[in-house]
Amino acid sequence: MTEILRRCSRSSAQKNLPRTYPVAGIRKETTHVHTFTFNVSLGAKPGQFVMVWLPGVDEVPMSVANDDGKKLQITFFAVGDTTKKLATLKKGDLVGLRGPFGTHYEWKPKQHLALVAGGYGAAPMFFAASEAAKDGCTLTAIVGARAKEHLLYLDAFKRLPRTTLSVATDDGSQGHKGYNVELLAELLKSKKKPDQVFACGPERMLVKVSDLCFQHAVPCQLSLERYMKCGYGLCGNCVVDPLGIRLCTDGPVVKNDLARSITEFGKYHRDHLGKKHSL
Ligand SMILES: Cc1cc2nc3c(=O)[nH]c(=O)nc-3n(C[C@H](O)[C@H](O)[C@H](O)COP(=O)(O)OP(=O)(O)OC[C@H]3O[C@@H](n4cnc5c(N)ncnc54)[C@H](O)[C@@H]3O)c2cc1C
Ligand code: FES
Repeated sequence: MTEILRRCSRSSAQKNLPRTYPVAGIRKETTHVHTFTFNVSLGAKPGQFVMVWLPGVDEVPMSVANDDGKKLQITFFAVGDTTKKLATLKKGDLVGLRGPFGTHYEWKPKQHLALVAGGYGAAPMFFAASEAAKDGCTLTAIVGARAKEHLLYLDAFKRLPRTTLSVATDDGSQGHKGYNVELLAELLKSKKKPDQVFACGPERMLVKVSDLCFQHAVPCQLSLERYMKCGYGLCGNCVVDPLGIRLCTDGPVVKNDLARSITEFGKYHRDHLGKKHSL
């Protein structure tokens, strides 16, 4: 018993401390989006995130894009200091990882799931889809982006069994001209109404998914992002109004009723100092 307790506390301490791993593979998805592969499994489930540490720069949260028991992947957008620096790394360079943290998407075998992805949200949506496919689920993936050159993971979705892929671009350069949520609205009105909807992407998109699922009484799970520092419930930086729950432990994946009771959802978020910023 004492040995079990010792092992439990050791493994949770290891999860909370970064360990460095060499970048084993780099795939350039688009001009500003890269996927890194590490030869390690952290036992992550779809929707969970890791803290990615670049020594001397910063540590930032990233959704796990895949963890197949042998390899772990992250897909990131080079937007600021840390992610732009990450994008310059080469195979063999060291990156610190700790986690996995947070909640994950949940489904039942053989359910019909609709997965709505915007931006880098396509990566965790693909991870969820590929795991759910192993449970015999039928999948409708709805991927959106500003233009066709920003669409992510389309070929990966196409390779999954029992999967229908729909695409939307704001400028109409591929698929439906408009937003991916318009395709979700059509699906929810059709005879092919899914058992559940999963979504990951910009918060405005998540609000629309939440409203549509509420109107059509379809359960949904949404990945909500807030500024994260510790990742495991210690610092309080990711608490949301008015509930005071921490999105690094009670999220990032939340069910729709919880999302709809977060009054700041779709309205504002807080930065590293706790200052409010409108969305
Ligand atoms: C649970 C979660 C999962 C995420 N998954 C991904 C992913 O899979 N791929 C991806 O490209 N990005 C992901 N992000 C966003 C990613 O963390 C930010 O893009 C990254 O932190 C930017 O850091 P930067 O130093 O390059 O840019 P900065 O210029 O510092 O920031 C750019 C933007 O990122 C936000 N940001 C910066 N630091 C943090 C932080 N510690 N926590 C939350 N947001 C931050 C800022 O508010 C700002 O809007 C995720 C965020 C969260 C909370
Ligand atoms: S990031 Fe520290 S409590 Fe959530």
